[in-house]
Amino acid sequence: MSDRIGIRGGAPLTGTVRLPGCKGVSHRAAVAAALADGTSEIANLAPGQDVACTLAVLRALGVTVADAGPGRVRITGRGPDGLGEPTGVLDCGNSGTTMRVVAGLAAGRPFLSVLAGDDSLTRRPMARVVGPLRAMGAHVDGRDGGRFAPLVVRGGGLRGVRHELEVASGQVKTALVFAGLQADGVTEIVEPAPSRDHTERLLRALGAPVETVDPRTTQVRAGGVTAFDLEVPGDPSSAAFFAVAAAVVPGSHVVLEGVLGNPGRIGYLDVLAEMGAAVTVHDRGERAGEPVVDVEVAARSLRGTRIRSHEGIVDELPVLAVAAAFADGPTEIVDAAELRVKESDRITTLATELARLGVAVEARPDGLVIGGRAARPAEAPVFESHGDHRIAMAAAVAAAAGTGRSEIRGWDAVAVSYPGFDADLARLGGVVG
Ligand code: S3P
Repeated sequence: MSDRIGIRGGAPLTGTVRLPGCKGVSHRAAVAAALADGTSEIANLAPGQDVACTLAVLRALGVTVADAGPGRVRITGRGPDGLGEPTGVLDCGNSGTTMRVVAGLAAGRPFLSVLAGDDSLTRRPMARVVGPLRAMGAHVDGRDGGRFAPLVVRGGGLRGVRHELEVASGQVKTALVFAGLQADGVTEIVEPAPSRDHTERLLRALGAPVETVDPRTTQVRAGGVTAFDLEVPGDPSSAAFFAVAAAVVPGSHVVLEGVLGNPGRIGYLDVLAEMGAAVTVHDRGERAGEPVVDVEVAARSLRGTRIRSHEGIVDELPVLAVAAAFADGPTEIVDAAELRVKESDRITTLATELARLGVAVEARPDGLVIGGRAARPAEAPVFESHGDHRIAMAAAVAAAAGTGRSEIRGWDAVAVSYPGFDADLARLGGVVG
């Protein structure tokens, strides 16, 4: 994959895109299949490096992962006891989900696992998962007393406890659910706010003892997972880039097919509609406990708004910030401190990249204020991904909405979640090159 890309702005986007599988669901399905006794087949698996890391880590734990064609894997687990002590370090790459979720899986096993990642992952907070796993009886350590990776886990003999988490996190909750399935007694997870619930939906659909007591409280008992077949719905966070592009590039009208319609993941569509975009959501049934939708978005002139980050609007904030840059009037993004501990400090990196569009941007500790109406500078900007896939794709949307040929440096970061993004953009009529 090239380390830079050029995009010519102003070409209307029209047509249909079928999104690659949801990254969050793909990680979870792969780990669930590894815990199951039998062979599971997962289709439309998320294509990027993050999920590839999870698969590689599962292989290192003794699970059989066989390629079954494009976007399709066959995973054969032999129950939790079939997992074995890895001989090397488990490389989680850039993937926070891999590291945190596998820490929970490994915490149930009576052997040593060492989890490491790239520079970005090594800077991200891990105490949020290390502390709760220790409370269940696992021996977990990491750099700086367990605050950062590499993590060292020697698990086994877990007991269920009640966790009151300080940060709402789908990754941490998932880690504790996979640990809880291997623990004696009841594991209860209470979050300060709801987080994405794919793990609970999938495991419930597979008959595992996981219960959503209320949107902030999950209970897990010891139990197994049955093998399954699943076609992963399209990634709603990846769809967000095209939804915003369709909303901001004049003359655009795009249909995003087969997208995961979990209400906790598509909140960004409400924001786009509130800003004035024409957004229609068509129900397309259900798969493994998750709604599936087609999303239709057409361009309109947008107005600024106030966006409060919550479970459904986190990974989409970089691209919503681009919508804000092309809207009339200011947009305020609030309650978004978690942006600082993503693949980059997204408050800082967004402020830097949006400023290249000629908008006024104020970075706050927990959000941003974006002045609106990008000035469409005479010189098309050169953007920088900062090694962050979502900043790279948000910049691509800004480039498509601008004028002239913009360049994005560090484009290879996109391989983490959506290696085919530029091809799909071109298919819709975006001018790449
Ligand atoms: C994810 C949860 C969110 C999200 C991340 C994936 C998941 O992170 O930002 O991209 O798959 O559970 P947190 O768990 O840190 O909230």
